Amino acid sequence: MSYNNIILEHSNGIATITINRPNKLNALNIETIKELHDAFDKANRNKAIKVILVTGSGNKAFVAGADISEFAHFDTEKGTQLSANGQKLLFDFVENLATPVIAAINGFALGGGLELAMCCHFRVACDTAKMGLPEVSLGVIPGYGGTQRLPQLIGKGRAMELIMTAGMIDAGQALNFGLVNHVTSQEELLSFCYKLASKIAQNSSVAIAAAIKAVNANYKDGIDGFKVEINAFGNAFSTKDFKEGTTAFLEKRRAVFPG
Ligand code: COA
Repeated sequence: MSYNNIILEHSNGIATITINRPNKLNALNIETIKELHDAFDKANRNKAIKVILVTGSGNKAFVAGADISEFAHFDTEKGTQLSANGQKLLFDFVENLATPVIAAINGFALGGGLELAMCCHFRVACDTAKMGLPEVSLGVIPGYGGTQRLPQLIGKGRAMELIMTAGMIDAGQALNFGLVNHVTSQEELLSFCYKLASKIAQNSSVAIAAAIKAVNANYKDGIDGFKVEINAFGNAFSTKDFKEGTTAFLEKRRAVFPG
């Protein structure tokens, strides 16, 4: 698949997906969502890629939301489909990806933009970033998982306030709420994320994939996360990465994980 709205690059085991519609503040239209699905899938299947970064082009916006011009005339059926397809193709897909995904929030992350950042495994923002779920100001609600993931990340009361006011918080407040893990300057954002990604890339990708699955199990209805952890822990003992990791420790050398 060739891309009109995103750029996929990779080097040193780290893929970067850049949403590239700067004239529309990188708003997510349906085509962009399909391209993002393809790029995440491709990066995840490439065994040389250990970590994926997602960011927006330019220095104004990560993503300023779903593309309002595209859904302004939708009816209930089309609206329901937009939400269901988007969640399946992109937001649930990224959350459950075996490869770690870091959102590098380089500006506005609003509506679907914050929802995209929230389905990533964690987030880093630059100090000019602004985040919020302004959907109720348009007469709609967050439809790409925002009503579920925001309370998980910052607590119900704070999420309710942010959603009801349709307000924006700055990077400092987002850090204070635990919505982002780190705040950097605009210039340092990507290099900071690369450093974090490089650290992650040194560890066992097989173990990391199992850990992502176990952590996510806590948020799935009807699934006992402790059981998922026990099984994944046990399964780790029969992996080549476990053999290499423990052998390297005992031999006092750095592990080189086969993956
Ligand atoms: N969907 C479609 N187009 C969008 C968009 C979105 N979510 N967000 C921004 N754009 C477009 C604008 O329409 C404008 O296009 P134009 O130049 O062709 O008119 C362009 O991006 C630049 O945006 P603009 O509003 O002029 O920039 P600004 O600096 O004045 O304001 C924002 C920035 C982010 C505050 C403002 O763009 C905004 O409120 N966007 C919508 C946010 C939102 O409600 N998202 C949730 C959607 S469900």
